[in-house]
Amino acid sequence: MTMHLITGGAGFIGVNLIRRLLAGGQEVVVVDDMSRGRIENLGELEADPRVRVATLDCADADGFGAFVAGLDGRVDDVWHLAANSDIPAGIADPAIDLQRTFLTTFGTLAVMRRFGIGRLHFASSSAIYGDFGETVIHEDIGPLEPISNYGAMKLASEAQIRAAAEAWLPCARIFRFPNVIGVPATHGVILDFVEKLRATPDRLDVLGDGTQQKAYLHVDDLVDAMLHIAALDGRYRVFNIGPSDDGITVRRIAETVRDAASPSAAIAFGEGNRGWVGDVPRFRYSVDRLLATGWRPRLGSQAAMERAVAEIVGARA
Ligand SMILES: NC(=O)c1ccc[n+]([C@@H]2O[C@H](COP(=O)([O-])OP(=O)(O)OC[C@H]3O[C@@H](n4cnc5c(N)ncnc54)[C@H](O)[C@@H]3O)[C@@H](O)[C@H]2O)c1
Repeated sequence: MTMHLITGGAGFIGVNLIRRLLAGGQEVVVVDDMSRGRIENLGELEADPRVRVATLDCADADGFGAFVAGLDGRVDDVWHLAANSDIPAGIADPAIDLQRTFLTTFGTLAVMRRFGIGRLHFASSSAIYGDFGETVIHEDIGPLEPISNYGAMKLASEAQIRAAAEAWLPCARIFRFPNVIGVPATHGVILDFVEKLRATPDRLDVLGDGTQQKAYLHVDDLVDAMLHIAALDGRYRVFNIGPSDDGITVRRIAETVRDAASPSAAIAFGEGNRGWVGDVPRFRYSVDRLLATGWRPRLGSQAAMERAVAEIVGARA
């Protein structure tokens, strides 16, 4: 049985990954400071004897190391998902991204090196690219000029991992996620709209004019791609993950959420095509490298969004 340590494992993507690893007969250690994650997100998984949960800050390499020392050298793979996932919060206070995104990577690498753990899978983001407008973004495009602190700290994290792969880390995978949707949602545009409609059932205020267009991937497809990439050969590999379409607009998401959660609500759009500072209004993502390895998403952006809206509205009913 392989032992997988998942930083940020009590968050949205973490619990979906854990479910799949357990279904595959694996053992799991969750390390999460519970800043945004919740034990309840694990649901019935918490009671599984193959799951161990530690509440700690993985930027604290000493505390994290003391915990890993108690695992008797049994950790095979680390999935580093811990980060600040609240992009506007990181713009308001850059220290949040420094601590939760950059320094968690630093701490995780320090612990892996100390205990000779040789396989790292890292949740990076399309935010590392910045704003390329209509240009199709493939993995080797440049220059990389992220426009949010979140993207900057993800890019700096990738750079740390690249250097580690040169010096001592035998296997590193970088996953550049698009917008990922599903349950248990901890953040994101769908959850935001659902919560706004609960507060004011007759009105939905949208940040920006609704024309922002992005690709959305359902979390089931995402986890599928992560496990697929993890099984590929190579020391250091980087992949965009996403659907193969150009995405859907915020207007369409707002209308779908409104129809599902509060059909009589009026939608009020804001101005400009950026929801917030650091928002990329449109990006076109190439997943050709991943498709060439034989992986295919089951849902495109539209179908993923419709399914996630039903799941999130259902979970909050
Ligand atoms: N959801 C998306 O659309 C998306 C897109 C691109 C990249 N990502 C990345 O995927 C990863 C998982 O995202 P998610 O959507 O599940 O977010 P999430 O907020 O639900 O999960 C992140 C988890 O990290 C934990 N965490 C934060 N700081 C920590 C620290 N110092 N020590 C230990 N744990 C800490 C949080 O408590 C949370 O449980 C993140 O790295 C995120 O940046 C997500």
